[in-house]
Amino acid sequence: KKLYGVIGDPIAHSMSPVMHNDLFSFYNIDAHYFPFKVSERNLRETVLGFKAIGAGGFNVTIPHKTRVMDCLDRIDPLAESIGAVNTVVAENGELTGYNTDGPGFVRGLEEQLSDLTGKKTLIIGAGGAAKGIYYSLAKAGVNEIDICNRTLIKAEEMASACPFDVNSTILEPNSAELKMGEYELVIQTTSIGMSPKTGVTPLSLDRLQPGSFVSDIIYNPSATAFLAEAISKGAGVQNGLDMFVYQGALAFEKWTGIFPDTVRMKNNVMNQLG
Ligand code: ATR
Repeated sequence: KKLYGVIGDPIAHSMSPVMHNDLFSFYNIDAHYFPFKVSERNLRETVLGFKAIGAGGFNVTIPHKTRVMDCLDRIDPLAESIGAVNTVVAENGELTGYNTDGPGFVRGLEEQLSDLTGKKTLIIGAGGAAKGIYYSLAKAGVNEIDICNRTLIKAEEMASACPFDVNSTILEPNSAELKMGEYELVIQTTSIGMSPKTGVTPLSLDRLQPGSFVSDIIYNPSATAFLAEAISKGAGVQNGLDMFVYQGALAFEKWTGIFPDTVRMKNNVMNQLG
């Protein structure tokens, strides 16, 4: 059996093992995917261990997505620009790092919206997740993407380091609220909605136009207060489940050459969520 896995800390609640093991058996691939709890101190040894034993590859999750890059032989250019790797492929004794989070978000969004390119877009947040999404959307040809973040300097740095052509205005939450009527697509990337304190949102959607589309990268809870507000305004919505499923599908494709059945994956993850 070929070994695959995910490294992170914490790792016990990762839904990736069940998702990938189901795909391995569904496609008759002789492989198994394990979760590994890895501390920062043991990161390099773990990565070298995967290489030494001839593993097929692995996923990387919090808190190792950036630091793992130093332990790899090659980094894909998009992952390099994002500064984070979530998927490693082992081939001919060499480890290559990719980022499938941002591209996975875009693939999941394309399932909901036929043409992204002309959409006037707002991204809320400027952390690691936002950066992957912003660069991947810009790479896919979305060329009007404003960024709203509590800390403006982080949004400015994210925009100025983007290697793809895109027009962006950096906004404070108050200014983004005033411009909300202009956006056809709003993407929430902060962790605010995960808080058990219900009702907390990064900004008001009061001026959102009906018929716009709002995506939140959180999937547990399945509808954040932010998405509930978007629905009340007549917007189409999507939670973070598609991003999770498509980042996994793109990783699986890199390892096996098969782009898997994403409906099957989504059902599997929803069963795990209960
Ligand atoms: P990730 O890698 O998951 O995106 P991160 O890099 O810590 O996480 O980024 C978190 C994002 O959520 C940032 O945009 C952060 O805003 P700041 O840059 O101003 O810190 C945003 N965020 C987190 N908690 C927030 C809160 N209570 N209110 C507003 N924004 C918040």
